[in-house]
Amino acid sequence: MKIFLDTANLEEIKKGASWGIVDGVTTNPSLIAKEGKPIEEQVRAICDIVDGDISAEVVATEFSAMLEEGRKLAKIHKNIIVKLPLIRDGVQACKALESEGIRTNVTLCFQAGQGLLVAKAGAYIISPFVGRIDDMGADGMILIHDLVKIYKNYGFKTQILAASLRTPNHVIEAAKAGAHIGTLPFKTLDSLFNHPLTDKGLDAFLKDYAKVFGTK
Ligand code: E4P
Repeated sequence: MKIFLDTANLEEIKKGASWGIVDGVTTNPSLIAKEGKPIEEQVRAICDIVDGDISAEVVATEFSAMLEEGRKLAKIHKNIIVKLPLIRDGVQACKALESEGIRTNVTLCFQAGQGLLVAKAGAYIISPFVGRIDDMGADGMILIHDLVKIYKNYGFKTQILAASLRTPNHVIEAAKAGAHIGTLPFKTLDSLFNHPLTDKGLDAFLKDYAKVFGTK
């Protein structure tokens, strides 16, 4: 499973990238707004840090305005993936942009039927939101399992990007389900490293070694 960082914060992206395990970045209008810089400037800076798919989302909601905005975003850098909301105009824009060779990520997927439409439109990526379904008291991971099954049944090429992953367990379950990509806030990526037995074991190894050879 590819790991993307779900943030527009440059410090977090630099730190994550320095670990050598980040394959791409997803942003959304809320994350861009949090950083306070225009989207063009912010995603260009992200492209300078990570050499992988960088999702930049349109804020237009009407077909021709989405196309215009999507084309502009795609010109920023070869790694930009144009993110579109899963509404009728968004799916239509996905089909049109993909036919022009512009790769798309269709976002805000909460139901497998929506995912079927997005695959048929030829999206490069679909983003089903696990955590937001969990927030409503349902099991968001079922959506990942359903999409993996449906896409396999028909050989759809659209990559399933498990989004709204908030815990290490979400990441593990998305990987077990067969999601192609998981996008994680920095905090979730950082916490994936942690296990008390790793810390305890390392402490014991170093102490045993130091008893015989001293510390460096
Ligand atoms: C990513 O593409 C989504 O915008 C993001 O994962 C949403 O996460 P949230 O539900 O934690 O805001």
